[in-house]
Amino acid sequence: MKLLVTGGAGFIGSNFIKYILNKYPDYSVVNLDILTYAGNLENLKEAKNNPGYKFVKGDICDRELADSLVKDIDAIVHFAAESHVDRSILDASPFIKTNVLGTQVLLEAARAKDVRFHHVSTDEVFGSLGPDDEPFNENTPYGPRSPYSASKAASDHLVRAYFHTHNLPITISNCTNNYGPYQFPEKFIPLFVTNLLEGKKVPLYGDGLNVRDWLYTEDHCRAIDAVLHRGKIGETYCVGGNCEKTNIEIAKTILKLLDKDESSIEPVKDRLGHDRRYAMSIKKISEELGWQPEVNFEEGLQKTIEWYKNNENWWQKIKSGEYLDYYKVQYCERNAHARYA
Ligand code: NAD
Ligand code: DAU
Repeated sequence: MKLLVTGGAGFIGSNFIKYILNKYPDYSVVNLDILTYAGNLENLKEAKNNPGYKFVKGDICDRELADSLVKDIDAIVHFAAESHVDRSILDASPFIKTNVLGTQVLLEAARAKDVRFHHVSTDEVFGSLGPDDEPFNENTPYGPRSPYSASKAASDHLVRAYFHTHNLPITISNCTNNYGPYQFPEKFIPLFVTNLLEGKKVPLYGDGLNVRDWLYTEDHCRAIDAVLHRGKIGETYCVGGNCEKTNIEIAKTILKLLDKDESSIEPVKDRLGHDRRYAMSIKKISEELGWQPEVNFEEGLQKTIEWYKNNENWWQKIKSGEYLDYYKVQYCERNAHARYA
């Protein structure tokens, strides 16, 4: 099988490419990535010399490029996106361009050749749950509340529209919070781990009682693999870790694993519009495709912390780089957070 993977230099996309090349040695993968601040070819050093792997630097919004790449491809697995909620609060424009327009460009390119299209999406499209609400599932009405989740919701609707209108063979997966190796250190778990390894404090938003459902990246890769190969065309599959945790709970676990005490926690102003709780029912994907998370949170977190300990070069380069500095200044000024001080 020949795959076009978009956003393959990012966190989940790079884990997915390595997973696929390892599991299916006869597959080939073209990785289309524009290398934003979040894209990093170092994530793919193990794949670099694999004859089945090719990197193309480019924008998913470039229709000509998309047409040329789709020519002899069997399926597109679409990860490319602006992915960080806090950045979407500062400036939604790149989110609309890449997540909405970029997805539409890829859909058109896929339609021209009738190429199978798998869209990687998020639980955030469903909105925010109250403490006693049932977890999200495939029938939950959409209710996105951040510019990021609104842009992902728009992209999901477009993907479904191309199925219903043009019969394009699509599937969608909506997944909960991922963690694992190669996650950009602006996200909660890698930011907390690397700050503590540097002897810094960790910025906990609001009361720290927001709940997320955590899944180890490799489990997410296995879920996408299952949907890509065995999912029913036109269908959506919800993916999650059955692992609801408050942020303060996770912060305390990380502190413990790194031998730090709670004085390292710095409570900061809450994220604007901060969704309170996400949780996901995985009934459909487990019953229909036999997928279940395999890595429990304690094991996954230990492995993740070990990875950050052993790969300090990777994240030090990022943390001292200009992309994070720009964000740091903007974010601190607008929200009066003391988070990176
Ligand atoms: P990431 O930010 O780490 O990586 C995104 C990648 O997309 C980067 O390599 C970037 O260079 C590339 N990209 C951005 N704009 C592009 C463009 N215009 N053209 C080509 N490439 C472009 O993101 P991630 O955390 O790996 O998320 C990947 C996908 O999974 C996203 O669609 C995201 O919405 C979805 N998702 C993420 C999570 C999570 O917890 N991280 C959970 C559920 C779903
Ligand atoms: O739910 C899936 C989504 O998970 C993905 O679609 C997004 O791409 C991904 O970024 C992630 O979104 P979140 O906003 O949930 O992840 P983030 O790591 O930014 O934050 C996780 C929680 O931790 C959230 O409640 C906010 C909190 N937080 C985050 C940061 C960065 C803090 O308390 N302090 C922080 O510094």
